[in-house]
Amino acid sequence: MKGSTPIVGLTAYTAPMAKAMDGAVDFILVGDSLAMTIYGETSTVGIDLDTMIRHGKAVARACRHACVVVDLPFGSYQKSPEQAFESAARVLMESGCDAVKIEGGREMAETIRFLSERGVPVMGHIGLTPQSINTLGGFKIQGKNKAVADALVDSARAVDQAGCFAVVIEGVMETVARDMHEALSVPSIGIGASVDCDGQILVTDDLIGMFDEFLPKFVKQYTQVLPLIKQAIDTYAKEVRNREFPGSEHTY
Ligand code: KIV
Repeated sequence: MKGSTPIVGLTAYTAPMAKAMDGAVDFILVGDSLAMTIYGETSTVGIDLDTMIRHGKAVARACRHACVVVDLPFGSYQKSPEQAFESAARVLMESGCDAVKIEGGREMAETIRFLSERGVPVMGHIGLTPQSINTLGGFKIQGKNKAVADALVDSARAVDQAGCFAVVIEGVMETVARDMHEALSVPSIGIGASVDCDGQILVTDDLIGMFDEFLPKFVKQYTQVLPLIKQAIDTYAKEVRNREFPGSEHTY
């Protein structure tokens, strides 16, 4: 699709959500963002491999069309290429997904090569890499100074040459994101990057207004489901307390 049709990606963590978007998007990411959106954590650092596999399995089971990518979580691949292969093999074999995503630039190139040469399709993820917020100093836009900008473009080249089939570029100044996109021979997938990327991805909970802890500038809320959910729950609670529910139509 690179160079012809923009590629559409979204996150999903459950079978119903995957079913709702399968056919409408090109790929579904079972992102480790579920640590925050589903499990209420303040970062993505605390989620483990078993949890990612469980959610990956639910999503893969519900999909007929979309390519399903599962995030390798923090601590499951950084130690060595061999550790990464063991984690990735478990994800592919146990979840039934199509590919894994790993965060990191040039420092992860050797691991990406090790995996892709051994039958593991790898999506890269560079720029603002949320698993590294403890060294990045928080969720900060990347590429504001020349040294970092140059390192990001260098990383784009490195993960591309190492064998990634696509690369997510997250939270990067637009001009730098464009340079990173230009450096890639494989599809660039932007999130807070540039409209020039070959595709875009958003966290679905952000897009539908389900996650309201904070809203990065790069998120466009296409709807707001949280107020609808709260309204339905308030009405249900009121009707139970008034003995209006269950009505005769809901009773055997
Ligand atoms: O975990 C996630 O949802 C992601 C996207 C933000 C790209 O990595």
